[in-house]
Amino acid sequence: MTIAITLVYDRIRWEEKAISKAVENQGLSIRRIDAKELVLDSSKGDQEVERELGSLVLQRCVSYFRGLHVASFLEAKGIKVINSSEVSRICGNKFLTTLYLEKGGSPTPKTLFTFSGEAAKNAADLLGYPSVLKPIVGSWGRGVARLNDKESASALIEMREDTNGLFNQIYYIQKHIPRPPRDIRTVVIGDELISANYRYSPQGEWRTNFSKGGRIEYCEITSELQDIVLKASGAVGGGILGVDAMEGPEGLVVHEVNSNVEFRGASQVSNVDIAVKIVDYLVQEAKR
Ligand SMILES: Nc1ncnc2c1ncn2[C@@H]1O[C@H](COP(=O)(O)OP(=O)(O)O)[C@@H](O)[C@H]1O
Ligand SMILES: [Mg+2]
Repeated sequence: MTIAITLVYDRIRWEEKAISKAVENQGLSIRRIDAKELVLDSSKGDQEVERELGSLVLQRCVSYFRGLHVASFLEAKGIKVINSSEVSRICGNKFLTTLYLEKGGSPTPKTLFTFSGEAAKNAADLLGYPSVLKPIVGSWGRGVARLNDKESASALIEMREDTNGLFNQIYYIQKHIPRPPRDIRTVVIGDELISANYRYSPQGEWRTNFSKGGRIEYCEITSELQDIVLKASGAVGGGILGVDAMEGPEGLVVHEVNSNVEFRGASQVSNVDIAVKIVDYLVQEAKR
């Protein structure tokens, strides 16, 4: 059986290069498709679509909606997509992620959801200050704001009320976790926790996103970490995931699951080659 992997992307990041290289190093063939150039025809039969786009697709679009719709099309044509559209749908939306984490019994920060600015102000009061306001779709820490007191919460919420983003009137307000100035990024592939690293927030920044320029440090995989991370991965449907956790006063809590995981930072300290592990998993899935 010859295994061919299709990589669908909309931006070539460090990770897409690493994955492509790992595929080639294993002597497998790779088809790279820029989702922005695709013209999909819903009237085509499954086999024709498979001939054009391959039978196993790794979906790595940065854009949540683009990736979601590409995956949905491919799945409708019988093509296996990793991560599945359902996993992408849940992970790309923090509102849904929180619901699935809670349902799966994963410890996650208490979160309130509202559908108007007035109710959002009440929610912030109920959670107390500081609390955290997040866009339900977004990444790299963009728009994630600490509501330090009632006054600044009102101002931030009013600013959001006056803008027209697709999800701006869906408010996601979370209890602030008094954690050390770091969080934990883990990479989970299938049922294996591949790597864990601390991400420290840089000087003058409270968020710990690697894109904000923080420092990366190796993190030991304890049984507590292993348990909560695998539970979280299972709760959202599994696949190739970045499960992020914080060290709270009552133990670890999962605050996010990324279905399009970036692992450039993790690779600086990981004992394993994450791109190779991803390709191993794809090969295993192709044979299933
Ligand atoms: N409830 C919280 N308490 C403390 N810090 C938080 C909380 N939620 C998020 N953060 C910080 O903000 C960063 C960005 O939030 P996150 O939910 O991961 O959104 P994004 O998808 O933009 O990365 C996290 O990496 C963490 O450093
Ligand atoms: Mg994050």
